[in-house]
Amino acid sequence: MQRVLSQAGVASRRACEALIEEGRVEVNGRVVTRLPVFVDVSSDRIRVDGKVVSASERKLYVMLNKPARTVTTARDEPGLDRRTVFDLVDHPSGIRLFPVGRLDFETMGLLLLTNDGEMANALTHPRYGLAKTYRAIVRGRLSDDDVESIERGIYLADRKEGRSTGASRTARVQVEIIKRDRDRTTLQITLKEGRNRQVRRMLASIGYPIKKLERVAIGPLRLKGIARGAWRELSRDELRTLRRLLRSRDAGLRGPKPGRDTVDTRRSRMTHP
Ligand code: URA
Repeated sequence: MQRVLSQAGVASRRACEALIEEGRVEVNGRVVTRLPVFVDVSSDRIRVDGKVVSASERKLYVMLNKPARTVTTARDEPGLDRRTVFDLVDHPSGIRLFPVGRLDFETMGLLLLTNDGEMANALTHPRYGLAKTYRAIVRGRLSDDDVESIERGIYLADRKEGRSTGASRTARVQVEIIKRDRDRTTLQITLKEGRNRQVRRMLASIGYPIKKLERVAIGPLRLKGIARGAWRELSRDELRTLRRLLRSRDAGLRGPKPGRDTVDTRRSRMTHP
């Protein structure tokens, strides 16, 4: 079920699992909440939040320059009525989009929205290790030793379903100092993991609270030419570059294929016994 939903552009596979468990998905008029659920797209009628899911929709890829004080969800938490990214992205097609990953309420910058579940999955899945770059302004003067310890990794608490499950060290990150004053530092930090509030928690844990945080790049995509709060579709070139990168990561993960530049030992053994 989650694969059908993500291919139809409802959300990423993992987010679709959550939709099912939250009781927001119906098959032939019945709410399903327990996984696995098996469906046949050709005969089953699937609805999410009451809306029929159609298997073939045009794929859209949107880049938003998210402002601060905006939530990255379609619906805010009960009792809160804050601006959401969907108040800002109103694609004329009316096609339902979903955010690829999330940015905190106060974090600004590059947020992708799409209805392509497979692409969203690849962009957020740790095995693809896509780099995300943030520009942060922190209170205090970051020393070279601090930079080194951030780069090597910081122990952060792990949480699952709201409960602490221990602590683990963050994977290696890259840090570039942009400007260092007596009482504030501007830095760029590139990471391949996507732990909850990772940049804020890393810097806060060594004594540098973040004053401003902006995502400026995701893989080859740069936040360029979009005013804060505005959005545009990805260009053909951007999409091509992104797809090429994901394909090459995918091929790398599956291991080298025998070809002109690699030796197929099975065949050579057979032809030269
Ligand atoms: N790290 C954070 O701390 N916040 C974000 O929104 C993204 C990465």
